[in-house]
Amino acid sequence: MQVNKLSHSSGKEERFSSSGFIFAAIGSAVGLGNMWKFPYITGQYGGAAFFLLFVVCLVIVGLPVLLAELAIGRGGRGSASSSFVKLSGSKVWGGLGMISVIAPFIIMSFYAIVAGWTLHYAMLSFSGKLFSNTDFSAQFNGFMSGYTPIVWQGVVLILVGFVVMKGISGGIEKFNKILIPGMFILLVILMVRALTLPGASAGVSFFLNPDFSKLTPESTLVALGHAFFSLSLGMGTMITYGSYVEKRQSLGAGTLAIGGGDLLYALIAGLIIFPTTFSFGIDPGEGPGLVFVALPAAFSAMPFGAFFGGLFFILLAIAALTSTVSLLEVPVTYTMDRFGWSRTGSVWIIVIGCFILGVPAALSLGAAPGLAFGGTIMFDLMDFFASNVLLPLGGLIVTIFAGYFYKGVAEEAGLTAGWFRVWLFMLRFVAPILVVFVFLHSSGIIKF
Ligand code: PFF
Repeated sequence: MQVNKLSHSSGKEERFSSSGFIFAAIGSAVGLGNMWKFPYITGQYGGAAFFLLFVVCLVIVGLPVLLAELAIGRGGRGSASSSFVKLSGSKVWGGLGMISVIAPFIIMSFYAIVAGWTLHYAMLSFSGKLFSNTDFSAQFNGFMSGYTPIVWQGVVLILVGFVVMKGISGGIEKFNKILIPGMFILLVILMVRALTLPGASAGVSFFLNPDFSKLTPESTLVALGHAFFSLSLGMGTMITYGSYVEKRQSLGAGTLAIGGGDLLYALIAGLIIFPTTFSFGIDPGEGPGLVFVALPAAFSAMPFGAFFGGLFFILLAIAALTSTVSLLEVPVTYTMDRFGWSRTGSVWIIVIGCFILGVPAALSLGAAPGLAFGGTIMFDLMDFFASNVLLPLGGLIVTIFAGYFYKGVAEEAGLTAGWFRVWLFMLRFVAPILVVFVFLHSSGIIKF
């Protein structure tokens, strides 16, 4: 009975094919974080110097934690909570693992909101309506102050629900195997367009000119925090995907492929965004403003801008959807394992829950700004709590567990003796200390 609860209880054992797993994991990693947050912070914190710092963070902390999550998932063959119990025999670890089940649920409820904006903007662009007025900031605010964002949020959740309902190989794997290569083609088309615009080189130098004077303790923590978010760590997604990986697949090679894919897609996104905005003399701005205000202004000034703008927002939508799929799979696997629910039942109950939690967050951005606590609107509160508090805690639990408590970790990771020693050192000493600093910084406890 106990065993039944701890292994996937969907009846038949579901598994990824080896390439399907890589595509799905890259789909999770490559998301809105790569498409607008990464280019923006790179431009702000020192261009190529920050990029190098990000690569270092990715290699010394991101990849070791990614491998640890995959090993925990495959070794435990359960959810982001029950895998810990199975590997340690202690329910305490299962309780700690719950952090990584709750976090994706919260993240999904607001990530789906932004994913909805990208779908809406893709439609607006292709239909030409996006360019019928020239005040893109007013247009964005007008959109946000109505109820349309909630409709799109619902559309995203239903779409993602259908994919996850179809299961690991018939749903998640198929979806990513089509969309991840599709996304690459779109990226390359848009990059060629952006780099051949007049004055594109100014954007490239803003993005990539190294400015080592901007490398500070703060930029290091930003790079580390982003390495975590970008690789989808600390939120149970990689543990959950790992639990569906075949034993014969090399987790070490998979880790490198996922990290490389994540970096490549982020780099190309930057080579689209900055040349495009700089070529038209538009201030790239930050956050949502960059993507939903500055870029529409640039596309409106470009020949065939409606087409290229539409492609760009489709690209964003794909990036967001493949990440949302991985977020949904975490609580779905958990409820199937823990309560024996069917996949379909789990999916729709969680989707409805996410919608209920997400609506106030969506409204707090426009239609109902009063939905706030202590002056912070719901959307920002949820983002802050999940990304800056739960995510580093989830990551810390993984490094400590894999570094000190998981006996069979060497065998599961399958590294050579030399690499294993390096990995264990990172997990035991380097990663936990750095993650604690990220937590103290991102939660506002220490400031620079
Ligand atoms: N990695 C995604 C991005 O960069 O946008 C975001 C994300 C997805 C974070 C899934 C965490 C997660 F579990």
